[in-house]
Amino acid sequence: MTADAFPALSGLAYGGDYNPEQWPREVWDEDVRLMQEAGVNLVSVGIFSWALLEPKEGLFEFGWLDELLELLHANGIAVDLGTPSVSPPAWFFHQYPESRVTLSDGTVMGFGSRGMASHASTEYRAAIERMAAELAQRYGTHPAVVMWHVHNEYGVPVAEDFGPRAVASWRRWLQQRYETLEALNAAWGTAFWGQCYDDWEHVVAPAATPTTVNPAMKLDWARFTDEQLRECFRLECEAIRAHATQPITTNFMAHQSWNTDLWKWGREVDVVSDDHYLWCADEEAHIALALSADLTRSVARGNPWMLLEHSTSAVNWQGRNVAKRPGEMRRNAMTHLGRGADAIMFFQWRASRSGAEKFHSAMVPHAGPQSRVFREVVQLGAHLKALEEIKGSRVMADVAVLYDWESLWAQDLEWRPSDDLQFRERMRAYYERLWCDDVTVDFAHPEDDLSRYRLVVAPASYLLTKAAGENLTSYVAGGGTLLVSCFSGIVDEHDRVHEGGFGAPLRDALGLTVEEFLPLREGATMSVELDGERLSADVWAEHIALCGAQVRGTFADGPGAGLPAITRHTHGDGQGWYVGTRLSSAELSAVMSGVYADAGIAPAAHHEALEVVTRRGDSHDFVIVVNHGDADAELTIIGTDLLTGSRIDGTLELAGGDVAVVRTAQSRQGGDHR
Ligand code: GLA
Repeated sequence: MTADAFPALSGLAYGGDYNPEQWPREVWDEDVRLMQEAGVNLVSVGIFSWALLEPKEGLFEFGWLDELLELLHANGIAVDLGTPSVSPPAWFFHQYPESRVTLSDGTVMGFGSRGMASHASTEYRAAIERMAAELAQRYGTHPAVVMWHVHNEYGVPVAEDFGPRAVASWRRWLQQRYETLEALNAAWGTAFWGQCYDDWEHVVAPAATPTTVNPAMKLDWARFTDEQLRECFRLECEAIRAHATQPITTNFMAHQSWNTDLWKWGREVDVVSDDHYLWCADEEAHIALALSADLTRSVARGNPWMLLEHSTSAVNWQGRNVAKRPGEMRRNAMTHLGRGADAIMFFQWRASRSGAEKFHSAMVPHAGPQSRVFREVVQLGAHLKALEEIKGSRVMADVAVLYDWESLWAQDLEWRPSDDLQFRERMRAYYERLWCDDVTVDFAHPEDDLSRYRLVVAPASYLLTKAAGENLTSYVAGGGTLLVSCFSGIVDEHDRVHEGGFGAPLRDALGLTVEEFLPLREGATMSVELDGERLSADVWAEHIALCGAQVRGTFADGPGAGLPAITRHTHGDGQGWYVGTRLSSAELSAVMSGVYADAGIAPAAHHEALEVVTRRGDSHDFVIVVNHGDADAELTIIGTDLLTGSRIDGTLELAGGDVAVVRTAQSRQGGDHR
């Protein structure tokens, strides 16, 4: 992936999924007129159009799409052209019923929804390859088409397939990975419960079983499923690349995805893109949004990325679909932009009258253009136009948070010490602390080169390979500050407990191992004493075996009463901090002050409701400021607010809910090597 792989548009991209096949032809003309009014310059087209494009097997009808692309092009709107592989037509499943997905309990998924094709089906693979080739042949040089949007959100609604063809592919995949059954038996620890295999044909998939399934098998199954999805993606990409040169993307779901290891996917796409929706039950959903945006930028390895979908207001697929408040859509968009997005797009352009998503918000809502939502859409388009010079600028971070999808898959399996200790919850708590302190972070894989970061935080590194342990240890030895949360460094890549005590791969970096886990009963709490302060903790205590670390915090009560809870260790030129319990983001504050001091990081002094992120351009910094609170807030800064054109001579005053983007002189902050 290269920066110049970004679609050829003069400014930031603005628009959304456009599904005009749901509307009579005359509505298209109104659509392009309104798109122009809103400043839309890019739309994603054709994602669900297979049934129209190939109404019968081998019969392709492109006339309507030709006409649509001409109309958009004539009106200066570029196209992100979808391949419709997420939703094969009825005739396909009628003709090839074995191409449907089989669930772990044997249920075969029926037609009438979307995303129910088996990645293992040879007919499905042939059909998507042919469709991609047909589209690329026809539109590979079309002036409207600036990029390709392959498939839609790989891995949802279903990723795993337990049908006979998928199981046959699974066996082939395992044979390639392990070569011998001895190696497979060793990796899966099949001596336990007498699961040894002596014939490849006997190897099963982790479908429904009487009790917990072999966790190492389950972990490999997750890797296999992810790899199968990528194989399907590659098939389409190759078919497109044979006829077309526009960049190719597929829309990820960063922190919301489960089945896709985005570190691997990020290497496959020309440009990284993401879909993000607020989770209504989360009253601080804008923090989850920021996390997702930082993770997406990190998957893009710092390159500009595209927000391909978010919502103008409510979604329709949660239990209670809360509408966005006036100004909230703009705040959301500015957070994505601030964290590196050069495209702000929505699902979808015009609200659907029929179908499963008729109550989902859109850029043009059912109320039509005379509506609050459309007025805000027009305002956002004007803002993005005013921010064109930001395009291509980069976010710099001094802190990395470790994120590994393999560790997520492994940690959240059944039968672990406590169901209450969860990967995503810990990730959010630590991220939230950093967010509240206004410390911008990248995410990184535990085996990445981390030497440019002052601080590395590991909120949930249950699976940690020997190589990752060595990487983190030499990071600390070289002068880095490492903060590790409990239940980290426990198993290797086969979900086998590391020898030498829990956390052994980090023994040198942290100056400890863990002798025994002491999880708490549901709802129970305890106290930790740290520097004369009493912190409230829950879920997890443990018996730490010190080998050099200095005790900073102690369990005051609960199952670990009197034992160390929080430690700091000097290894080489750096420090390894360890938190052996679950602390909320607020309680973590007391730990972070020491960690920041070691890392030489100064948390922000401004109001907690203010989100402040900097993008570095060639000659200026652009400071994106979002006020998530209701009250007015102030920020000390000198520069020009690009949204209002006004000069700021020291104090930016931002009303509750408002946003600003300040062009300012380049600061030294961010991205400097330690
Ligand atoms: C996903 C899909 C879209 C649409 C939205 C609704 O992101 O990609 O097609 O279903 O959800 O929120």
